[in-house]
Amino acid sequence: MAPAGLLLVVVVTAAAALLLAAPASAALPRVEHAPKADGTLAVLAVGDWGRRGQFNQTLVAQQMGEVGQKMDIDFVISTGDNIYDDGIANTTDPLFEESFSNIYTAKSLQKPWYLVLGNHDYTGNPLAQLDPAIRNVDSRYTAIAKSFIVNSGIADFFLVDTTPFILHYWNNTKFDWRGVAPRDTYITNLLKDLEYALTESKAAWKIVVGHHPISSGCGHGNNTELEELLLPAHGVDMYVNGHDHCLQRISSRDSHLQFLTSGGGSKAWAGKFKATPDKVEFLYDGQGFMSMRLSKAEAHLAFFDVAGNALHCWGLTKTAAAGR
Ligand SMILES: *[C@@H]1O[C@H](CO)[C@@H](O)[C@H](O)[C@H]1NC(C)=O
Ligand SMILES: *[C@@H]1O[C@H](CO)[C@@H](O)[C@H](O)[C@H]1NC(C)=O
Ligand SMILES: *[C@@H]1O[C@H](CO)[C@@H](O)[C@H](O)[C@H]1NC(C)=O
Ligand SMILES: *[C@@H]1O[C@H](CO)[C@@H](O)[C@H](O)[C@H]1NC(C)=O
Repeated sequence: MAPAGLLLVVVVTAAAALLLAAPASAALPRVEHAPKADGTLAVLAVGDWGRRGQFNQTLVAQQMGEVGQKMDIDFVISTGDNIYDDGIANTTDPLFEESFSNIYTAKSLQKPWYLVLGNHDYTGNPLAQLDPAIRNVDSRYTAIAKSFIVNSGIADFFLVDTTPFILHYWNNTKFDWRGVAPRDTYITNLLKDLEYALTESKAAWKIVVGHHPISSGCGHGNNTELEELLLPAHGVDMYVNGHDHCLQRISSRDSHLQFLTSGGGSKAWAGKFKATPDKVEFLYDGQGFMSMRLSKAEAHLAFFDVAGNALHCWGLTKTAAAGR
């Protein structure tokens, strides 16, 4: 059931094929997802969701369906922690359908979902979520690698696997580091590949997506490892993450970069807050999701709650952002 307009091209160069055997630097895999005929793009972003519908996951899903319909979305981005508490065990684990297929049933959501993994996915079988066989169960579920690029004309989305960055996970035996360990090599190669991809990108909008926040005023707060290592440059406009179960917009103190948290897919209302040196423009501790409508010159973004209220809407323009 490949949706019309989707051209799924996985570029595997000779170097990338080699990467599978022996980790080395190579081009990040790409999905080509054509924008609408007029060149614009409409996307929803949600994170921290798979709980068999509990903790308002179902309500968030319904409103995503409504908003998705109105916006005629092209695809959905998931910021990770796709399945609680420990990911899935294999591609036919019933938890997958119970937490994904049976929940996001709206017609407008029958589009590709491009996903990163979160720490909760890593304590199960993370490779099962990347296995193409999972698309025999639900054809939408598209994580072609732990880090990959969705190339969509006016916008490039750089999906980055952030879990291996977080140091304290490495002392926890529940994490499955197959294809990742040793950490240093993995991160060095990933950052090299990302930097190369960012400098090569010709897209008007460059959006980096990862599970963990770089800067956050919600419960988990900013991540030192990511601030030091990942903090994207090269004209990146937005860093979109989950992990903190809230909706949040932060403006960087140093650049035009926006830190956007969309981690309200199910359990929320933690009531815990942290300090961040950046400017918190908006913070909502409850459930919801984010929408994005992009044209070459403008981005219109919004956060929605479980009742479908637009809690916070804002716009970015390329001319305003040009003062970088
Ligand atoms: C579900 O959402 C409603 C409305 O925001 C909220 O009052 C309620 O506490 C939420 N339930 C849970 C389990 O978070
Ligand atoms: C897949 O995982 C589920 C849940 O743990 C388990 O019940 C099932 O036996 C597994 N299937 C295979 C083929 O291993
Ligand atoms: C992990 O465990 C080792 C050995 O117990 C310890 O030296 C190290 O500081 C721990 N690292 C982190 C990040 O907790
Ligand atoms: C986040 O930023 C604040 C302010 O710069 C800093 O004090 C703190 O150590 C950082 N890390 C965390 C985890 O809060």
